[in-house]
Amino acid sequence: MLTLKISDLKPAEIQNYLQYAIAPRPICFASTVDIKGNVNLSPFSFFNIFSTNPPVCIFSPARRVRDNTVKHTLENVLNVKECVINIVNYDMVQQTSLASVDYPKGTNEFLKAGFTELASIIVKPPRVAEAPVQLECIIQDIIALGDQNGAGNLIIAEIKMIHIKEEILDEDGNIDQEKIDLVARLGGDWYCRVTKDSLFKVPKPVRSMGIGVDSIPFAIRNSKILTGNDLGRLGNVEVLPTLQEIERVRLIPEIDKIFKSDPDDPIVRSIYLQNFAKAKLETGDVLTAWKVLLLDQQKL
Ligand SMILES: Cc1cc2nc3c(=O)[nH]c(=O)nc-3n(C[C@H](O)[C@H](O)[C@H](O)COP(=O)(O)O)c2cc1C
Repeated sequence: MLTLKISDLKPAEIQNYLQYAIAPRPICFASTVDIKGNVNLSPFSFFNIFSTNPPVCIFSPARRVRDNTVKHTLENVLNVKECVINIVNYDMVQQTSLASVDYPKGTNEFLKAGFTELASIIVKPPRVAEAPVQLECIIQDIIALGDQNGAGNLIIAEIKMIHIKEEILDEDGNIDQEKIDLVARLGGDWYCRVTKDSLFKVPKPVRSMGIGVDSIPFAIRNSKILTGNDLGRLGNVEVLPTLQEIERVRLIPEIDKIFKSDPDDPIVRSIYLQNFAKAKLETGDVLTAWKVLLLDQQKL
């Protein structure tokens, strides 16, 4: 384990380690205006949602590590306390990156990066027409986290209006996680794209009071075949199957076959049963997995 003390590191090193480790980060593509109405558009991945009632996002234009100067976005929101947070999808990512160039103050990055301005309804900064979601925000507070190179500035933005492109909605009118085609920032030049292949679901544990990994019988918990993810799924059940239910699982043809093919070798049989249970866990059939694992325990 590499253990590093922050006081021994240079700001650029800290930034490098943390940006690779704290990732992927969503991208806030913020449009702001200065006091004269000049428009600015810049991406920030130090960004997230922190409250839904009121709906509040925070993003952080940091002081430049190389020369401790501040970003135009920060200067703008200190004067005009409004912004639009535009959400970045895959089709926008190269132009979004171009908008992050340090153009001189007053440069409109909508023009530089080739995006289309769309008038907002309640704030002065325009929306990015290409963005799948556009959030009109009022700045509630700005908190400087320091005055040295790399110090962040929390821009606390309350969302007042949400615009969503209809083409990313599902038949129930909710955002379709696949259709929105999000991208996120990681370390260095790395980005990732949320695709059908990279998406998966984890059922919320709050729906039930799971028994917890510590309540899984010792031999199952210490299985060499089951992984931490498998134990997490097993620990998320409310009750264990009854003895009768466990016995009935023997009627599954594959289980019956396992018992018949290795009648005298409980260790080999146990490996087959655990692998069968693991495959069931991967398909989401946690109850059958439990029954098979408990049957395995009984027969040892
Ligand atoms: C995807 C992406 C994410 C970025 N995230 C941040 C960030 O969170 N904080 C920051 O200070 N700079 C970030 N940058 C760099 C700024 O976008 C860049 O410094 C930009 O020039 C600031 O523009 P401004 O001075 O017009 O506000 C990011 C750049 C990219 C491409």
